[in-house]
Amino acid sequence: MRSYSLIAPAKINLYLEILGIRPDGYHELAMVLQSIDLADHIHLSASSTDTIRVRCEHPQVPTDKTNLAYKAAELMAVQFPDAFAQYGGVEITIDKRIPVAAGLAGGSTDGAAVLVGLDLLWQLGLTQSQLQELAAQLGSDVPFCVAGGTAIATGRGDQLSPLPSVENLYVVLGKYRSLTVSTAWAYQTYRQHAGSNVADPTFEPRLGVHSGPMVKAIIHKNAREIGQRLHNDLEQVVLPKYPQVLQLRQAFQDTGVLGAMMSGSGPTVFALCESYDQAQQSQQQVRAAFPDPDLNLVVAQFSSTGIRVAS
Ligand code: C5P
Repeated sequence: MRSYSLIAPAKINLYLEILGIRPDGYHELAMVLQSIDLADHIHLSASSTDTIRVRCEHPQVPTDKTNLAYKAAELMAVQFPDAFAQYGGVEITIDKRIPVAAGLAGGSTDGAAVLVGLDLLWQLGLTQSQLQELAAQLGSDVPFCVAGGTAIATGRGDQLSPLPSVENLYVVLGKYRSLTVSTAWAYQTYRQHAGSNVADPTFEPRLGVHSGPMVKAIIHKNAREIGQRLHNDLEQVVLPKYPQVLQLRQAFQDTGVLGAMMSGSGPTVFALCESYDQAQQSQQQVRAAFPDPDLNLVVAQFSSTGIRVAS
């Protein structure tokens, strides 16, 4: 086949704990990650040239070499020069539906889709673990985006252990369109101000892990408990800087949902809901409280899949 269309889902963090600073400068993490059915659509087609080209109409998405989708194609071309020479260049079209710089891994999932798509287009037959190794070279969240579902992520966020899927839960995602947060900024600020213990060289990372109750709640498919165990250390730096995000989180909580939390480095906050109806009601109540058109509210469902082929 000369072209593939792929579905690239967003993720939310049900749990994010910062355990320490690693020798490579990244942070040692314990996270629980969950795919949702809000997804970008990626189209890959072989071009007769020897170039990589990214198209995207979203004004906040770069189409140059800084785009993770571009970097993914470049990585594949370097790793598999014979295939690149045989099949030629590639045109990558991104239909961007996931909010940008939002803590939802929108860029990472596009990169993951390009890895999976080029594996198919170039008929490489890579294994899941080979794809994940390549994914880790692109970014900490990219391996999870390849596999998707529900997983514990440790290390930089790239070491994955799958968890049983929890499919019939819903979220309302709330994001101010004009507000973006840099992940690097969030971690650096955490390191400087909030997490003095992570910079302590005597700090013993393993003692700090508290994700057990969340993992148990997921294994037992206990939605109420999952809602109570939501946690994100990066809230400590992002919420004080953006009071409107804190207010939004509180407003979600006040609608009687299972729980509300910021995802990743934010600024998206999500309300965890036990049904589609509850999610719609929460969305309507928050919309009534915040009629600001800059606030984007979307209902999404938990999903058990990562990158998948649409056609
Ligand atoms: O890995 P990725 O490129 O997605 O990470 C973006 C930035 O987030 C990194 O440059 C780093 O500043 C920060 N980060 C971190 N520790 C992690 C993951 C990300 O400090 N485990």
